[in-house]
Amino acid sequence: MAAMTEELTLRSGTVLRNRICKASMNEALATADGKVTQDHIAVYNVWADSGAGLLITGNMMVDGRHMNEPLVVDALLETNMDLLRKWAETGKRTNTHIWPQLNHPGKQSPKMVNDTPVAPSAVPIENDMFVPPRTLNDAEIEAIIDQFAEAAARLEQAGFTGVQLHGAHGYLIGQFLSPHHNRRDDKWGGSFENRFRFVEEIYKRTRARTGKGFNIAIKINSSDFQKGGFTEEDSINVAKALDALGIDLIEVSGGSWENPVNRKGKGEVRDSTRKREAYFLEYAEKVKTQISTPLMVTGGFRSAAGIAEALSSGAIDMAGVARPFAVDPMFATHVMRNPSYVSTVAPIRSGIKKIDQMAIMEISWYTMQIERLAHGKSSQTKADGVWPALKVMYRFWKNGKAVKRVRA
Ligand SMILES: Cc1cc2nc3c(=O)[nH]c(=O)nc-3n(C[C@H](O)[C@H](O)[C@H](O)COP(=O)(O)O)c2cc1C
Repeated sequence: MAAMTEELTLRSGTVLRNRICKASMNEALATADGKVTQDHIAVYNVWADSGAGLLITGNMMVDGRHMNEPLVVDALLETNMDLLRKWAETGKRTNTHIWPQLNHPGKQSPKMVNDTPVAPSAVPIENDMFVPPRTLNDAEIEAIIDQFAEAAARLEQAGFTGVQLHGAHGYLIGQFLSPHHNRRDDKWGGSFENRFRFVEEIYKRTRARTGKGFNIAIKINSSDFQKGGFTEEDSINVAKALDALGIDLIEVSGGSWENPVNRKGKGEVRDSTRKREAYFLEYAEKVKTQISTPLMVTGGFRSAAGIAEALSSGAIDMAGVARPFAVDPMFATHVMRNPSYVSTVAPIRSGIKKIDQMAIMEISWYTMQIERLAHGKSSQTKADGVWPALKVMYRFWKNGKAVKRVRA
Protein backbone atom coordinates (compact mmCIF):
# COMPACT_ATOMS: atom_id res chain seq x y z
CA MET A 1 0.00 0.00 0.00
CA ALA A 2 2.98 2.22 -0.34
CA ALA A 3 3.44 5.35 -2.37
CA MET A 4 6.43 5.61 -4.71
CA THR A 5 8.12 8.20 -2.56
CA GLU A 6 7.74 6.29 0.70
CA GLU A 7 10.89 4.93 2.36
CA LEU A 8 11.40 1.18 2.58
CA THR A 9 13.09 -0.22 5.69
CA LEU A 10 14.74 -3.58 5.12
CA ARG A 11 15.47 -6.29 7.69
CA SER A 12 19.11 -5.28 7.63
CA GLY A 13 18.11 -1.87 8.98
CA THR A 14 18.90 -0.21 5.62
CA VAL A 15 16.40 2.48 4.70
CA LEU A 16 15.86 2.86 0.95
CA ARG A 17 14.70 6.41 0.27
CA ASN A 18 11.87 5.41 -2.08
CA ARG A 19 10.27 2.47 -3.89
CA ILE A 20 11.95 2.75 -7.29
CA CYS A 21 14.89 0.53 -8.19
CA LYS A 22 16.97 0.60 -11.33
CA ALA A 23 17.08 -3.11 -12.04
CA SER A 24 20.22 -4.85 -13.25
CA MET A 25 21.45 -4.15 -16.76
CA ASN A 26 24.79 -5.43 -17.94
CA GLU A 27 26.63 -2.21 -18.70
CA ALA A 28 29.08 -3.95 -21.10
CA LEU A 29 31.66 -1.36 -20.05
CA ALA A 30 34.35 -3.64 -18.61
CA THR A 31 37.54 -4.64 -20.42
CA ALA A 32 37.76 -8.02 -22.13
CA ASP A 33 39.45 -9.46 -19.03
CA GLY A 34 36.76 -8.17 -16.66
CA LYS A 35 38.26 -4.95 -15.34
CA VAL A 36 36.06 -2.14 -14.06
CA THR A 37 36.56 1.07 -16.07
CA GLN A 38 36.01 4.80 -15.53
CA ASP A 39 32.89 4.39 -17.70
CA HIS A 40 31.24 2.39 -14.91
CA ILE A 41 31.92 5.22 -12.49
CA ALA A 42 30.60 7.75 -15.00
CA VAL A 43 27.29 6.00 -15.66
CA TYR A 44 26.64 5.31 -11.96
CA ASN A 45 27.29 8.98 -11.26
CA VAL A 46 24.49 9.68 -13.76
CA TRP A 47 22.16 7.07 -12.23
CA ALA A 48 22.93 8.26 -8.68
CA ASP A 49 21.08 11.42 -9.75
CA SER A 50 18.18 9.47 -11.25
CA GLY A 51 16.09 9.65 -8.10
CA ALA A 52 16.02 5.86 -7.62
CA GLY A 53 16.45 4.60 -4.07
CA LEU A 54 18.37 1.52 -5.20
CA LEU A 55 20.61 0.77 -8.17
CA ILE A 56 21.42 -2.85 -8.92
CA THR A 57 24.47 -3.17 -11.14
CA GLY A 58 24.79 -5.32 -14.21
CA ASN A 59 25.80 -8.85 -13.43
CA MET A 60 29.39 -9.30 -12.25
CA MET A 61 31.00 -12.71 -12.61
CA VAL A 62 32.18 -14.71 -9.61
CA ASP A 63 34.58 -16.58 -11.90
CA GLY A 64 36.19 -14.64 -14.75
CA ARG A 65 36.58 -17.82 -16.81
CA HIS A 66 32.81 -18.08 -17.02
CA MET A 67 31.20 -14.94 -18.42
CA ASN A 68 27.63 -14.63 -19.65
CA GLU A 69 28.73 -12.04 -22.21
CA PRO A 70 31.93 -10.22 -23.12
CA LEU A 71 32.65 -6.96 -21.26
CA VAL A 72 31.25 -7.99 -17.86
CA VAL A 73 33.09 -7.34 -14.59
CA ASP A 74 35.09 -10.08 -12.88
CA ALA A 75 34.15 -9.48 -9.24
CA LEU A 76 37.16 -11.35 -7.89
CA LEU A 77 39.85 -9.57 -9.89
CA GLU A 78 42.18 -8.11 -7.27
CA THR A 79 43.08 -5.14 -9.48
CA ASN A 80 39.42 -4.05 -9.54
CA MET A 81 39.34 -2.98 -5.88
CA ASP A 82 40.30 0.70 -6.39
CA LEU A 83 37.69 1.34 -9.05
CA LEU A 84 35.09 -0.71 -7.18
CA ARG A 85 35.61 1.67 -4.23
CA LYS A 86 35.01 4.63 -6.52
CA TRP A 87 31.95 2.92 -7.98
CA ALA A 88 30.47 2.32 -4.51
CA GLU A 89 31.21 5.94 -3.67
CA THR A 90 29.01 7.29 -6.51
CA GLY A 91 25.79 6.51 -4.66
CA LYS A 92 26.78 8.05 -1.33
CA ARG A 93 26.38 11.64 -2.56
CA THR A 94 22.63 11.16 -3.11
CA ASN A 95 21.89 8.45 -0.50
CA THR A 96 21.34 5.94 -3.28
CA HIS A 97 22.18 2.35 -2.40
CA ILE A 98 24.15 0.39 -4.99
CA TRP A 99 24.18 -3.40 -4.91
CA PRO A 100 26.29 -5.36 -7.37
CA GLN A 101 24.59 -8.35 -8.88
CA LEU A 102 26.61 -11.58 -8.62
CA ASN A 103 26.33 -14.26 -11.25
CA HIS A 104 27.80 -17.48 -12.55
CA PRO A 105 26.28 -18.24 -15.94
CA GLY A 106 26.80 -22.00 -15.87
CA LYS A 107 25.95 -23.33 -19.32
CA GLN A 108 24.55 -19.97 -20.46
CA SER A 109 28.07 -18.83 -21.27
CA PRO A 110 28.18 -18.48 -25.06
CA LYS A 111 30.92 -20.03 -27.15
CA MET A 112 31.91 -16.54 -28.16
CA VAL A 113 33.58 -16.39 -24.72
CA ASN A 114 33.63 -19.94 -23.40
CA ASP A 115 34.41 -23.32 -24.98
CA THR A 116 34.06 -25.22 -21.70
CA PRO A 117 30.85 -24.21 -19.93
CA VAL A 118 29.70 -26.08 -16.84
CA ALA A 119 26.28 -27.01 -15.45
CA PRO A 120 24.62 -29.14 -12.78
CA SER A 121 24.04 -31.75 -15.52
CA ALA A 122 25.20 -32.11 -19.11
CA VAL A 123 21.89 -30.96 -20.62
CA PRO A 124 22.64 -28.81 -23.68
CA ILE A 125 20.90 -25.55 -24.52
CA GLU A 126 18.99 -25.91 -27.77
CA ASN A 127 20.94 -23.15 -29.46
CA ASP A 128 24.23 -23.37 -31.32
CA MET A 129 25.52 -20.21 -29.64
CA PHE A 130 26.42 -22.45 -26.70
CA VAL A 131 28.84 -25.37 -26.38
CA PRO A 132 27.17 -28.29 -24.56
CA PRO A 133 28.15 -28.12 -20.89
CA ARG A 134 29.97 -30.64 -18.75
CA THR A 135 28.71 -31.71 -15.33
CA LEU A 136 30.16 -30.01 -12.26
CA ASN A 137 31.66 -32.26 -9.59
CA ASP A 138 31.12 -31.81 -5.88
CA ALA A 139 34.39 -29.96 -5.21
CA GLU A 140 33.69 -27.55 -8.07
CA ILE A 141 30.21 -26.82 -6.73
CA GLU A 142 31.67 -26.07 -3.29
CA ALA A 143 34.28 -23.80 -4.89
CA ILE A 144 31.66 -21.80 -6.81
CA ILE A 145 29.62 -21.29 -3.62
CA ASP A 146 32.76 -19.93 -1.95
CA GLN A 147 33.39 -17.64 -4.92
CA PHE A 148 29.97 -16.02 -4.44
CA ALA A 149 30.68 -15.47 -0.73
CA GLU A 150 34.21 -14.19 -1.39
CA ALA A 151 32.97 -11.77 -4.05
CA ALA A 152 30.31 -10.40 -1.67
CA ALA A 153 32.90 -9.94 1.09
CA ARG A 154 35.14 -7.97 -1.28
CA LEU A 155 32.29 -5.85 -2.54
CA GLU A 156 31.36 -5.02 1.04
CA GLN A 157 35.00 -4.04 1.63
CA ALA A 158 34.78 -1.80 -1.42
CA GLY A 159 31.87 0.04 0.19
CA PHE A 160 28.76 -1.42 -1.43
CA THR A 161 25.84 -1.85 0.97
CA GLY A 162 24.58 -5.13 -0.45
CA VAL A 163 24.67 -7.65 -3.26
CA GLN A 164 22.02 -9.34 -5.32
CA LEU A 165 22.38 -13.01 -6.23
CA HIS A 166 21.29 -13.68 -9.81
CA GLY A 167 18.92 -16.59 -9.44
CA ALA A 168 16.85 -15.70 -12.51
CA HIS A 169 17.05 -15.91 -16.32
CA GLY A 170 18.43 -19.44 -16.56
CA TYR A 171 21.94 -18.94 -15.14
CA LEU A 172 23.70 -21.36 -12.78
CA ILE A 173 21.56 -20.76 -9.67
CA GLY A 174 18.45 -21.14 -11.84
CA GLN A 175 19.94 -24.24 -13.50
CA PHE A 176 20.34 -25.91 -10.09
CA LEU A 177 16.75 -24.99 -9.16
CA SER A 178 15.26 -26.39 -12.36
CA PRO A 179 14.46 -30.11 -12.67
CA HIS A 180 14.87 -29.73 -16.46
CA HIS A 181 18.48 -28.53 -16.18
CA ASN A 182 19.39 -30.33 -12.94
CA ARG A 183 19.17 -34.11 -13.38
CA ARG A 184 21.54 -34.96 -10.52
CA ASP A 185 20.81 -37.72 -8.05
CA ASP A 186 23.24 -36.56 -5.33
CA LYS A 187 22.55 -33.99 -2.59
CA TRP A 188 22.42 -31.18 -5.23
CA GLY A 189 19.53 -32.58 -7.29
CA GLY A 190 16.20 -34.37 -7.22
CA SER A 191 13.92 -33.10 -4.47
CA PHE A 192 13.17 -29.41 -4.02
CA GLU A 193 15.38 -29.37 -0.91
CA ASN A 194 18.30 -30.73 -2.92
CA ARG A 195 17.83 -28.39 -5.90
CA PHE A 196 17.54 -25.49 -3.43
CA ARG A 197 20.77 -26.47 -1.60
CA PHE A 198 23.11 -24.61 -4.01
CA VAL A 199 21.45 -21.21 -3.51
CA GLU A 200 20.87 -21.93 0.19
CA GLU A 201 24.60 -22.53 0.70
CA ILE A 202 25.48 -19.42 -1.32
CA TYR A 203 23.13 -17.38 0.85
CA LYS A 204 24.43 -18.83 4.14
CA ARG A 205 28.12 -18.51 3.26
CA THR A 206 27.60 -14.98 1.93
CA ARG A 207 25.87 -14.05 5.18
CA ALA A 208 28.72 -15.59 7.18
CA ARG A 209 31.35 -13.63 5.23
CA THR A 210 29.63 -10.23 5.39
CA GLY A 211 28.79 -7.89 8.25
CA LYS A 212 25.58 -7.16 10.11
CA GLY A 213 23.60 -4.63 8.13
CA PHE A 214 24.91 -5.86 4.76
CA ASN A 215 22.04 -6.61 2.38
CA ILE A 216 21.67 -9.86 0.49
CA ALA A 217 18.99 -9.89 -2.15
CA ILE A 218 18.06 -12.31 -4.89
CA LYS A 219 16.46 -12.12 -8.31
CA ILE A 220 14.37 -15.19 -9.11
CA ASN A 221 12.12 -16.25 -11.93
CA SER A 222 8.42 -16.53 -11.27
CA SER A 223 8.76 -19.63 -13.43
CA ASP A 224 11.02 -20.71 -16.30
CA PHE A 225 7.98 -21.24 -18.55
CA GLN A 226 9.69 -24.43 -19.70
CA LYS A 227 8.16 -27.90 -19.79
CA GLY A 228 9.52 -30.02 -16.93
CA GLY A 229 11.36 -26.98 -15.59
CA PHE A 230 11.21 -24.57 -12.66
CA THR A 231 7.54 -23.93 -11.95
CA GLU A 232 5.60 -21.21 -10.20
CA GLU A 233 5.19 -23.56 -7.25
CA ASP A 234 8.99 -24.05 -7.08
CA SER A 235 9.43 -20.31 -7.27
CA ILE A 236 7.04 -19.68 -4.38
CA ASN A 237 8.87 -22.33 -2.36
CA VAL A 238 12.22 -20.64 -3.08
CA ALA A 239 10.80 -17.29 -1.96
CA LYS A 240 9.39 -18.84 1.22
CA ALA A 241 12.61 -20.66 2.06
CA LEU A 242 14.80 -17.58 1.51
CA ASP A 243 12.34 -15.50 3.52
CA ALA A 244 12.73 -17.94 6.39
CA LEU A 245 16.53 -17.72 6.09
CA GLY A 246 16.34 -13.91 6.39
CA ILE A 247 17.04 -12.58 2.90
CA ASP A 248 16.61 -8.80 2.58
CA LEU A 249 14.86 -8.31 -0.77
CA ILE A 250 13.36 -10.64 -3.37
CA GLU A 251 13.07 -9.49 -6.98
CA VAL A 252 10.84 -11.38 -9.35
CA SER A 253 11.47 -11.67 -13.05
CA GLY A 254 11.15 -14.49 -15.58
CA GLY A 255 12.54 -16.20 -18.65
CA SER A 256 15.95 -17.26 -19.88
CA TRP A 257 18.01 -17.18 -23.09
CA GLU A 258 15.85 -20.02 -24.31
CA ASN A 259 12.70 -18.05 -23.58
CA PRO A 260 13.26 -14.36 -22.81
CA VAL A 261 9.77 -13.46 -21.55
CA ASN A 262 11.32 -10.72 -19.42
CA ARG A 263 12.08 -8.56 -22.41
CA LYS A 264 8.91 -8.91 -24.40
CA GLY A 265 7.42 -6.04 -26.31
CA LYS A 266 3.91 -4.93 -27.06
CA GLY A 267 1.77 -7.57 -28.71
CA GLU A 268 3.84 -10.35 -27.15
CA VAL A 269 2.26 -10.39 -23.71
CA ARG A 270 -1.14 -11.49 -22.50
CA ASP A 271 -3.97 -8.94 -22.38
CA SER A 272 -4.26 -9.20 -18.59
CA THR A 273 -0.56 -8.40 -18.28
CA ARG A 274 -0.73 -5.48 -20.67
CA LYS A 275 -3.56 -3.95 -18.70
CA ARG A 276 -1.48 -4.02 -15.56
CA GLU A 277 1.74 -3.02 -17.28
CA ALA A 278 4.16 -5.23 -15.34
CA TYR A 279 4.53 -8.89 -16.33
CA PHE A 280 4.69 -10.73 -13.01
CA LEU A 281 2.11 -9.01 -10.81
CA GLU A 282 -0.26 -11.95 -10.60
CA TYR A 283 2.58 -14.08 -9.28
CA ALA A 284 3.58 -11.30 -6.87
CA GLU A 285 0.11 -11.24 -5.37
CA LYS A 286 0.29 -14.97 -4.70
CA VAL A 287 3.69 -14.92 -3.08
CA LYS A 288 3.35 -11.64 -1.19
CA THR A 289 0.95 -13.01 1.38
CA GLN A 290 3.28 -15.93 2.12
CA ILE A 291 6.51 -14.05 2.88
CA SER A 292 7.58 -11.09 4.95
CA THR A 293 10.68 -10.18 2.91
CA PRO A 294 10.01 -7.08 0.79
CA LEU A 295 9.10 -8.01 -2.77
CA MET A 296 10.06 -6.25 -5.98
CA VAL A 297 8.77 -7.02 -9.45
CA THR A 298 10.71 -6.12 -12.58
CA GLY A 299 9.59 -6.28 -16.19
CA GLY A 300 7.26 -4.00 -18.07
CA PHE A 301 6.88 -0.95 -15.84
CA ARG A 302 6.88 2.15 -18.02
CA SER A 303 4.54 4.70 -16.46
CA ALA A 304 4.04 6.58 -13.23
CA ALA A 305 0.46 5.32 -13.15
CA GLY A 306 1.43 1.66 -13.62
CA ILE A 307 4.00 1.80 -10.83
CA ALA A 308 1.70 3.74 -8.50
CA GLU A 309 -1.09 1.22 -9.04
CA ALA A 310 1.13 -1.81 -8.42
CA LEU A 311 2.48 -0.29 -5.21
CA SER A 312 -0.87 0.87 -3.92
CA SER A 313 -2.49 -2.50 -4.66
CA GLY A 314 -0.07 -3.99 -2.14
CA ALA A 315 1.19 -6.60 -4.64
CA ILE A 316 4.74 -5.29 -4.42
CA ASP A 317 6.92 -3.25 -2.07
CA MET A 318 9.24 -1.92 -4.73
CA ALA A 319 9.15 -1.45 -8.50
CA GLY A 320 12.13 -2.66 -10.51
CA VAL A 321 12.68 -0.90 -13.80
CA ALA A 322 15.46 -1.59 -16.30
CA ARG A 323 15.21 -0.38 -19.92
CA PRO A 324 13.60 3.02 -19.18
CA PHE A 325 16.70 3.97 -17.14
CA ALA A 326 18.86 3.49 -20.22
CA VAL A 327 16.84 5.95 -22.27
CA ASP A 328 15.84 8.30 -19.45
CA PRO A 329 18.48 8.49 -16.72
CA MET A 330 16.09 10.65 -14.66
CA PHE A 331 13.29 8.09 -14.91
CA ALA A 332 12.70 7.76 -11.15
CA THR A 333 12.50 11.52 -10.61
CA HIS A 334 10.17 11.86 -13.58
CA VAL A 335 7.69 9.21 -12.41
CA MET A 336 7.74 10.50 -8.83
CA ARG A 337 7.06 14.10 -9.92
CA ASN A 338 4.73 13.61 -12.85
CA PRO A 339 1.75 11.23 -12.45
CA SER A 340 1.19 11.14 -16.21
CA TYR A 341 4.80 10.34 -17.12
CA VAL A 342 5.32 7.44 -19.53
CA SER A 343 8.62 6.17 -20.89
CA THR A 344 8.28 5.07 -24.50
CA VAL A 345 10.65 3.16 -26.70
CA ALA A 346 9.32 0.68 -29.19
CA PRO A 347 10.64 -2.87 -28.92
CA ILE A 348 13.46 -3.44 -31.35
CA ARG A 349 13.16 -6.37 -33.69
CA SER A 350 15.25 -7.47 -36.66
CA GLY A 351 12.66 -9.69 -38.28
CA ILE A 352 15.13 -12.60 -38.06
CA LYS A 353 13.42 -15.19 -35.85
CA LYS A 354 16.50 -16.67 -34.21
CA ILE A 355 17.86 -13.27 -33.26
CA ASP A 356 14.51 -11.87 -32.12
CA GLN A 357 13.78 -14.94 -30.02
CA MET A 358 16.77 -14.10 -27.84
CA ALA A 359 16.06 -10.37 -27.84
CA ILE A 360 19.60 -9.70 -29.08
CA MET A 361 18.70 -6.51 -30.93
CA GLU A 362 16.89 -5.25 -27.89
CA ILE A 363 19.80 -5.86 -25.51
CA SER A 364 22.35 -4.43 -27.94
CA TRP A 365 20.40 -1.25 -28.49
CA TYR A 366 19.91 -0.60 -24.77
CA THR A 367 23.56 -1.46 -24.15
CA MET A 368 24.47 1.26 -26.60
CA GLN A 369 22.33 3.78 -24.73
CA ILE A 370 24.18 2.92 -21.49
CA GLU A 371 27.50 3.55 -23.23
CA ARG A 372 26.21 6.92 -24.44
CA LEU A 373 25.24 7.87 -20.87
CA ALA A 374 28.71 6.85 -19.64
CA HIS A 375 30.26 9.10 -22.30
CA GLY A 376 28.18 12.11 -21.26
CA LYS A 377 25.91 11.90 -24.31
CA SER A 378 22.15 11.90 -24.16
CA SER A 379 20.52 8.60 -24.93
CA GLN A 380 18.47 8.14 -28.07
CA THR A 381 14.73 8.14 -27.61
CA LYS A 382 13.91 6.44 -30.87
CA ALA A 383 15.02 3.06 -32.06
CA ASP A 384 16.39 3.89 -35.49
CA GLY A 385 16.91 0.67 -37.30
CA VAL A 386 19.17 -2.28 -36.84
CA TRP A 387 22.59 -0.72 -37.59
CA PRO A 388 23.34 0.71 -34.13
CA ALA A 389 22.57 -2.67 -32.61
CA LEU A 390 24.75 -4.43 -35.15
CA LYS A 391 27.59 -2.13 -34.08
CA VAL A 392 27.25 -3.32 -30.48
CA MET A 393 27.04 -6.93 -31.61
CA TYR A 394 30.30 -6.41 -33.53
CA ARG A 395 31.90 -4.97 -30.36
CA PHE A 396 30.75 -8.06 -28.43
CA TRP A 397 32.11 -10.38 -31.12
CA LYS A 398 35.49 -8.57 -31.19
CA ASN A 399 35.75 -8.60 -27.41
CA GLY A 400 34.66 -12.23 -27.24
CA LYS A 401 37.78 -12.99 -29.29
CA ALA A 402 39.82 -10.85 -26.90
CA VAL A 403 38.41 -12.75 -23.89
CA LYS A 404 39.63 -16.00 -25.39
CA ARG A 405 43.05 -14.47 -26.19
CA VAL A 406 43.44 -13.24 -22.59
CA ARG A 407 42.81 -16.78 -21.35
CA ALA A 408 44.90 -18.63 -23.94
C1 LIG B 1 20.77 -4.26 -21.84
C2 LIG B 1 20.18 -5.15 -20.79
C3 LIG B 1 21.03 -5.83 -19.95
C4 LIG B 1 20.49 -6.64 -18.92
N1 LIG B 1 21.35 -7.23 -18.04
C5 LIG B 1 20.84 -7.90 -16.98
C6 LIG B 1 21.71 -8.41 -15.97
O1 LIG B 1 22.94 -8.27 -16.03
N2 LIG B 1 21.13 -9.06 -14.94
C7 LIG B 1 19.76 -9.21 -14.82
O2 LIG B 1 19.29 -9.77 -13.85
N3 LIG B 1 18.93 -8.74 -15.75
C8 LIG B 1 19.44 -8.07 -16.81
N4 LIG B 1 18.57 -7.54 -17.73
C9 LIG B 1 17.12 -7.73 -17.53
C10 LIG B 1 16.50 -6.58 -16.76
O3 LIG B 1 16.99 -6.49 -15.44
C11 LIG B 1 14.98 -6.73 -16.67
O4 LIG B 1 14.67 -7.91 -15.95
C12 LIG B 1 14.30 -6.77 -18.04
O5 LIG B 1 14.88 -5.82 -18.92
C13 LIG B 1 12.80 -6.46 -17.89
O6 LIG B 1 12.60 -5.24 -17.24
P1 LIG B 1 12.20 -3.87 -18.02
O7 LIG B 1 10.93 -4.17 -18.75
O8 LIG B 1 12.04 -2.84 -16.94
O9 LIG B 1 13.34 -3.54 -18.95
C14 LIG B 1 19.09 -6.77 -18.78
C15 LIG B 1 18.24 -6.10 -19.66
C16 LIG B 1 18.77 -5.29 -20.66
C17 LIG B 1 17.83 -4.56 -21.58
